[in-house]
Amino acid sequence: MNAWAVIVAAGRGERSGLSQNKVFFEYDGRSVLSRCLDAFAASAQVGGAVLVLSENDRPAYEELCRREGACPLVRTIVSGGATRRDSVYNGLCAVPADAEVVAIHDAARPFVTGAIIKVTLDAARQYGSGVISTPVIDTIKQIQPDGKVTTVDRETLRAVQTPQSFDYHKIMNAHRMAQADGLAVTDDAMLYEYYYGNLRLVTAEGAERNRKLTTKADFEALGGAKFPELRVGQGYDAHRLKEGRKLILCGVEVPHDRGLDGHSDADVAVHALMDALLGAVGGGDIGKHFPDSDPAYKGISSMKLLDHVMALLCKQGWRVVNVDVTIVAQKPKLAQYIPQMRKNIADALQTEAVNVKATTTEHMGFEGEEIGISAQAVCLLGK
Ligand code: CTP
Ligand code: MG
Repeated sequence: MNAWAVIVAAGRGERSGLSQNKVFFEYDGRSVLSRCLDAFAASAQVGGAVLVLSENDRPAYEELCRREGACPLVRTIVSGGATRRDSVYNGLCAVPADAEVVAIHDAARPFVTGAIIKVTLDAARQYGSGVISTPVIDTIKQIQPDGKVTTVDRETLRAVQTPQSFDYHKIMNAHRMAQADGLAVTDDAMLYEYYYGNLRLVTAEGAERNRKLTTKADFEALGGAKFPELRVGQGYDAHRLKEGRKLILCGVEVPHDRGLDGHSDADVAVHALMDALLGAVGGGDIGKHFPDSDPAYKGISSMKLLDHVMALLCKQGWRVVNVDVTIVAQKPKLAQYIPQMRKNIADALQTEAVNVKATTTEHMGFEGEEIGISAQAVCLLGK
């Protein structure tokens, strides 16, 4: 039997809030429209498809074909109309006259499966129509004209989707009659039931997932809708070891014969971390925010400066996803102080995703020769 598909994609997708027609929206590397066409091509249920597009979207479709590959099932592209019904009608007119059944499908339903397509076409062949539907899960209330609320028996209700498949000549006829009668409908099944009465509803596994992408939330739920804003940053610092100074690392005073020299408490690890955080948001570096020419910062705890940096980030809407800090020191052994260092940083950053580690350089370089201590930090921030 000769089966065709009419895929309507000529809407504007206004409720999605996207800057382009929602059918071109891409998630996990493939657009909504291509996913629909893929499902029809893979099902091997139809001999060809008519794609209904608005004139404005032709360039976007050509670009999509270049990027994702043109679907060989699409034999004809026709222009859409002002309403969905007009678009379907234009599509039906382009289906070859020898078609026996036709599956009409919203391009905004990318979760359609081969099983769904088949069950609707089989019913269309046997009964003249086959419309995919699901039981209604919510309890539905009806408001009577006098304002009284009543409950509708849920068992008698079905929610219908697309594909909606029909005997081609019957649905074509129904559309022509509806044009003449000026009948306003929201789907093709309404036309069929209006003119022929005996609409056939079918269901299939996966129908409950065959939802139409309509609102902003629908697209956000896809994950790819808005790529989360993520930023990485890295920081590095080194200070000289000097007698008569305390050794402060990640806010912990570590017993040692010397400490790090600097204008503040010279907490080299926190300095590297602050530079990573500022770097991630394009905020310059600690020298710009806390110049060592400013007496206000003389001897100050770097943990206090870290609080300032965090306040700045929070104000811009950033939160820390994770940080990793490496302290490079030949001596002293830092292992026993690391849990407290980690805790100090986790408290300041308000995340548990904090790692602090230490390494020696096997006596090589300025750290290895105990001239100084350096630290490196990387961070990931999210909005
Ligand atoms: N559609 C169409 N021609 C129209 C209107 C809608 O081909 N004049 C198509 C849409 O592209 C979509 C399907 O019909 O695949 C279902 O319509 P809907 O979800 O309402 O999509 P849009 O009209 O694009 O969205 P909105 O109503 O939010 O603007
Ligand atoms: Mg619409």
